[in-house]
Amino acid sequence: MSRVPQIVGNWKMYKTAAAAREFIAALQPLIAPVCARVCLAVPFTALEAAVAAAKGTGIRIGAQNMHDQNEGAFTGEISACMLQESGVSFVLLGHSERRQYFAETNSFIHRKVQRALEARLIPILCIGEQFQERERGDQKKVLQMQLEECLQEIFPDEASRIIIAYEPVWAIGTGKTATPGIAQEMHQFIRNWLGKRFGSESAGKMSLLYGGSVKPDNIAELMVQTDIDGALVGGASLNVESFAQIVNY
Ligand code: 13P
Repeated sequence: MSRVPQIVGNWKMYKTAAAAREFIAALQPLIAPVCARVCLAVPFTALEAAVAAAKGTGIRIGAQNMHDQNEGAFTGEISACMLQESGVSFVLLGHSERRQYFAETNSFIHRKVQRALEARLIPILCIGEQFQERERGDQKKVLQMQLEECLQEIFPDEASRIIIAYEPVWAIGTGKTATPGIAQEMHQFIRNWLGKRFGSESAGKMSLLYGGSVKPDNIAELMVQTDIDGALVGGASLNVESFAQIVNY
């Protein structure tokens, strides 16, 4: 199965629209002609500027979150059709920081996945266990529940449009990357689960990203793993040189 390698930067709550324009202009000449697909998940207020700056570069722009309803009295929220209108191609859903600080549940995330698919946005569904869950040996149980609940009622042809990002919470922003062996073991578990749920053909087409302290010096050893198709990069995506090094791994 050939899956396109992709590197997704998640800027979290960093960078204004002006900073996004500057970053994209500086990044473009640093990207090697043959490299992974480059994607940036930027703050809502920088989406339009980033989409305009990325036009014709091949860099894809996405959002970091959205609501599960298309419209309504939900002060401060943004819907899938609003994202679609701003020209983004993907949206991160269920990031552990959303689960942890904004109490997002699997069932809420599941509805967002459905709305994103309806709006022809690519959902990047984030899953991953916490440190205590790994210590108890429950990491696979946790992933299985997240997958089961977030991907309910999804058909195989829709599943092949979904990207899964495995981000162990203990590796996010801590400098403690999962070893390539641990990351591969978890990605293989995810791919097997997807195969049982959606059939091996759909599962084989689905991109699985690893996230958690990805840096220029560990990207290559992660990318050679059979079931790792790309990376979701936080801190190291904020600096144009380090992000370019990751993209050109
Ligand atoms: P870091 O790369 O800063 O660990 O963040 C990972 C992450 O949360 C990406 O979504």
